[in-house]
Amino acid sequence: MAIVQNWLPPSEDNYNFIMFWWSLFPLFGSLQWVVSFDGMGKGSIAKSMFNIPGKLAWLTMEVPGATVLLYTIRALTAARGASPEDLPWQNKVLAGLFVTHYAYRAIIYPLVAPSMSDIHVFVWLSAASFQVCNGTCIGAWLAAYGPTTQAEWAASGFSTARFAAGLLLFSAGLAANYFSDEELREIRRSEQRRQERLKKSQGGKGGGTIHRHYELPNNGLFRYILYPHYFFEWVEWLGYWVAGGFAFAPARAFLLNEIFSMLPRAVKGGEWYRQKFGAEKVNKKWIIIPGIY
Ligand SMILES: NC(=O)c1ccc[n+]([C@@H]2O[C@H](COP(=O)([O-])OP(=O)(O)OC[C@H]3O[C@@H](n4cnc5c(N)ncnc54)[C@H](OP(=O)(O)O)[C@@H]3O)[C@@H](O)[C@H]2O)c1
Repeated sequence: MAIVQNWLPPSEDNYNFIMFWWSLFPLFGSLQWVVSFDGMGKGSIAKSMFNIPGKLAWLTMEVPGATVLLYTIRALTAARGASPEDLPWQNKVLAGLFVTHYAYRAIIYPLVAPSMSDIHVFVWLSAASFQVCNGTCIGAWLAAYGPTTQAEWAASGFSTARFAAGLLLFSAGLAANYFSDEELREIRRSEQRRQERLKKSQGGKGGGTIHRHYELPNNGLFRYILYPHYFFEWVEWLGYWVAGGFAFAPARAFLLNEIFSMLPRAVKGGEWYRQKFGAEKVNKKWIIIPGIY
């Protein structure tokens, strides 16, 4: 049963319509170059009635991505009297990769984070809308508007070697993204341990907070780059696009939309690190693209 007739899941015309506007999202993401409002992370607003607690906001804004994708696949295959199990293995693997990423990003990530800054409701709305659009487009392509038989994959120029190369890139990106996230978590966990030791040595008195505790990260890939987690997230979704083939338009749009929304955040973050820890220390690292910037 459709949630919104012809939109969720989308008819083919509406899928093409959404894809057209979705491919213009970089214009929206680029507004961050000229607007100083941030509303999350280092740019979180200290006290605002429009703030949502970080972990709750993150979980609820990211969960729609994989949920909508799974729903869209089920609904569009059912509409032609089939089921997701009838799809070619390529479609199932691509859907599985997407869900694997979001099982981590939407659920595990906020649960294991030692603390997260509040997120403004405007950021929450933009991120949740991003997830719904992305889950809809990728799900619709995998279930109906991309290749849905082996003959259609063959006609689209499918190559096992390219699919494997894409999988390799995706896996390397996911692993490097995870371990870089982990380096940031470790900064706050070790500060927590330091504060507990201090409290113990003072007979249980005192104690601070790790909330919004920042250090210049220097371990793992942070030795060379300030935003390795961003860069490798791009590698991950580049791999996804490569695996599905160059006609996998929603995967291409996802990659571009991520680059256009995350690049200005990383550049502003670089400036934030320079001001907080000094240009001398920060300028020894690339900001986000190793060897280039
Ligand atoms: N932001 C996006 O547009 C976006 C889009 C797609 C995917 N992602 C992925 O989602 C993940 C998180 O993104 P993000 O934009 O939230 O990254 P981020 O600003 O680097 O923050 C990541 C987490 O680490 C903490 N943190 C950041 N810098 C720290 C430091 N120097 N010392 C100690 N703790 C620090 C943050 O705490 P606070 O919350 O308190 O700052 C937050 O919990 C990344 O893996 C990214 O690739 C992000």
